[in-house]
Amino acid sequence: TATALPFKVADLSLAEAGRHQIRLAEHEMPGLMALREEFGPSQPLKGARIAGSLHMTVQTAVLIETLVALGAQVRWVSCNIFSTQDDAAAAVAVGPTGTPEAPAGIPVFAWKGETLEEYWWATEQLFDWSAEGFEGPNMILDDGGDATLLVHKGREFELAGAVPDAAPGDSHEWTVILDTLRRSLAASPDRWQRIAAGILGVTEETTTGVHRLYDLHAAGQLLFPAINVNDSVTKSKFDNKYGIRHSLPDGINRATDVLIGGKVAFVAGYGDVGKGSAEALRGQGARVIVSEIDPINALQAAMDGFQVARIESVLEVADIFVTTTGNKDVITVAHLQGMKHQAIVANVGHFDNEIDMAGLESLPGAEKVEIKPQVHEWRLPNGRSILVLSEGRLMNLGNATGHPSFVMSNSFSNQVLAQLELFTKTAQYPVGVYVLPKVLDEKVARLHLAALGVELTELTPAQAAYIGVPVAGPYKVDHYRY
Ligand code: NAI
Repeated sequence: TATALPFKVADLSLAEAGRHQIRLAEHEMPGLMALREEFGPSQPLKGARIAGSLHMTVQTAVLIETLVALGAQVRWVSCNIFSTQDDAAAAVAVGPTGTPEAPAGIPVFAWKGETLEEYWWATEQLFDWSAEGFEGPNMILDDGGDATLLVHKGREFELAGAVPDAAPGDSHEWTVILDTLRRSLAASPDRWQRIAAGILGVTEETTTGVHRLYDLHAAGQLLFPAINVNDSVTKSKFDNKYGIRHSLPDGINRATDVLIGGKVAFVAGYGDVGKGSAEALRGQGARVIVSEIDPINALQAAMDGFQVARIESVLEVADIFVTTTGNKDVITVAHLQGMKHQAIVANVGHFDNEIDMAGLESLPGAEKVEIKPQVHEWRLPNGRSILVLSEGRLMNLGNATGHPSFVMSNSFSNQVLAQLELFTKTAQYPVGVYVLPKVLDEKVARLHLAALGVELTELTPAQAAYIGVPVAGPYKVDHYRY
């Protein structure tokens, strides 16, 4: 269609505030700035048309402008209805050289507090490149897999000739996706097939999105190669852990201003995000209790000094509940009804089904009171209240501004290298799910040492030969776990 909008953000007058934050963030993102220096002159992403679906924050703005500096054309949306920083989105739409009156940035469709209908509308805009003179993108940069899902489902329903009706028990969000694709199918019988055929690959940011990719591939349905950015060591062992260690307490504080010290905090899941969450809460002086389904992680938590218990055992003890599992139904409505008065309930896993929000919304006699946006008191029929943050969605992005720049520079350097790999070495990546080679992982870490004053010890050739690694790396076997 020729009606493609240039962009949609909350308020362009926020662009200057956003630009100041981006400028400060650039200094905190040495990896991305080094990649601009290394690859800017050769423009390796020239010809790349990247559809990006990832929290539209200040840090993401630096990622976007790095991709552009390497030659790419970009469209962007947020991958969560609450995670956009409106000042960052405005600055990206206006661009470094534009003004609010004459915006000269990239097409970004994101604002804080989208409805699900608006969210999927925005995600559809990612794929309409008519304003740029193309049918669609040729690369996807995804966080959680929603952009990838739209292409796969759109194509699947086109081939079936119809979009199915939602089944009883399907989520409201799935109904919205089906409606979006039904409209699309009515307008064109083969749009998503053409778009899918034009995509060279996807780079995926998070644990949950990576699970979806491996599932698709195992089912023989993955349509293009994927790089699993999450499982770069310099992503999951840094962003997921040290990032949440910063942004989880930030979100709790901004949302509630409740003193964490002395409280009992319950953390569901002791993977990378759970480890960072538990450490942060303990650092604030809380007594932390962890739950796990995996005996290895449960033992790790115990050895790290945490009590490990089932949620049922701690309902009447814990003041703060945090889910970090990437699983569903971790906190049920029955659990919510067993909690203390004014218990805080928060999720930092990717999707909002870790806490049974749908069940809470349909609980007879429950009343929702908005304390402020993304902070709700739920008055329960038993006379007690609980405080639910960000309606059960990623609260470190909904109630705060997500992970800080330095850690995201590591994650996003992996994203840029992954885009470069898939776009410039397409033939080397048949359909499948890959991780970046270890030497690139080590390179990302290397790019962040100087800023922290790290003095790295160099192997002598004799030492290198003795432990059987090259002097310049890679230093570990692929199955090393860090
Ligand atoms: P992970 O796989 O390392 O950890 C998840 C842990 O939860 C595993 O150890 C698993 O055994 C455990 N688990 C699964 N079901 C459980 C249950 N019912 N009860 C207790 N424990 C259970 O995954 P990771 O990297 O920690 O990611 C977790 C989630 O957080 C994912 O959805 C991921 O996409 C998301 N994420 C969120 C971030 C944020 O900024 N909020 C940042 C990075 C990841």
